[in-house]
Amino acid sequence: MSQAKTQAVEPDDVGRLRDRRLRASERGRWRAVEEAFESGLRNHWYAVAPASALAGANPLALRRMGEDLVLWRDAEGGLRLFADRCAHRGARLSLGAVVGGRLCCRYHGWAYDGTGQCVAIPSEGGACELADEARVRAYPVEQHGGLVFAWFDDDGRAPKRACPNPAELESPEWSGFIVPHEWQGVGWFRVLENLVDPIHAPFLHAGTYTMGHGALQDVIAVEDRPDGLFVKREGQELVSFDYSTYHFPNWCEVDVPYPWSAGPGGAMRVLVFVTPIDAGATQIYMVRKRRITGWKWWIWRALWHLRLRRKMYDVLDGDEAALTSQRNRAALDGEFLAQSDLGIVRMRRLFADAHDRRAR
Ligand code: FES
Ligand SMILES: [Fe+2]
Repeated sequence: MSQAKTQAVEPDDVGRLRDRRLRASERGRWRAVEEAFESGLRNHWYAVAPASALAGANPLALRRMGEDLVLWRDAEGGLRLFADRCAHRGARLSLGAVVGGRLCCRYHGWAYDGTGQCVAIPSEGGACELADEARVRAYPVEQHGGLVFAWFDDDGRAPKRACPNPAELESPEWSGFIVPHEWQGVGWFRVLENLVDPIHAPFLHAGTYTMGHGALQDVIAVEDRPDGLFVKREGQELVSFDYSTYHFPNWCEVDVPYPWSAGPGGAMRVLVFVTPIDAGATQIYMVRKRRITGWKWWIWRALWHLRLRRKMYDVLDGDEAALTSQRNRAALDGEFLAQSDLGIVRMRRLFADAHDRRAR
């Protein structure tokens, strides 16, 4: 994580959070922003699946960004992501099969190449003029470190930004696991807020490994760094989940301290990629990494399967209980923020700015 000038708690943030009148107006503004982006913010890359989920030849049905999608591999092994809706009469293409490097609809056999172009209509004799006019929506995809990312645009143009590819994903110096997790009843904003809210750890995760360690009282500071929004507890570092770097709009880096009993490698770095399934459900991919190789990696791998994975699920169970209990957008009703919510305020401001830019 790069260093940059500290922009700690600004007086206006503290004032904003203490002034109930202002807080109410900011809340109303945020509700409109959240409704506009409830199924995702377009023109960004999102993690959509681990590549290992597509192990066989069959296409894979996914729901991401409020859309039904189908992921498949063409004849060269390239990943393709289409809208899961045949151009003919709307059947799901994920019910079909990949034949000769083409995705073929199960209903009447229309066949599509990797770009989404229909190339054969069997009932019309195969390749024909009618096929030239039919196509399905195809989204650009990239694969990094075993994760498949897709660019979701709203104008059909090529990606305007580089796909997230932090060093930990592909560097041979880092070893680890991809852990997918799906939350039903939880919108993606509740998940993002949880990730920029380090003070929840000693309360919600009290008793769950190192996450419950440390003081219950602290001040939250936020730094605008070139690579993201750095949200930290001022009073302690690497005692519990004490800081995170938020990369707008949809992923975070978090360090979780590990004691010597967790094996070599020091703290575990967790890259969390957050993807809306739709307005009321969220998919996350946690890439859990330590900077170790060789025999150290094998020790950690063994400890992970024996003990540490269970501890991770204890933490996730706590998050799941709290986040589902918020009843998604109902959490905003009468919301009463404190100084410890500064990371949430700053993150929301980035979305509000994006909303304003769209309105212009
Ligand atoms: S609906 Fe797909 S071929 Fe008819
Ligand atoms: Fe948590």
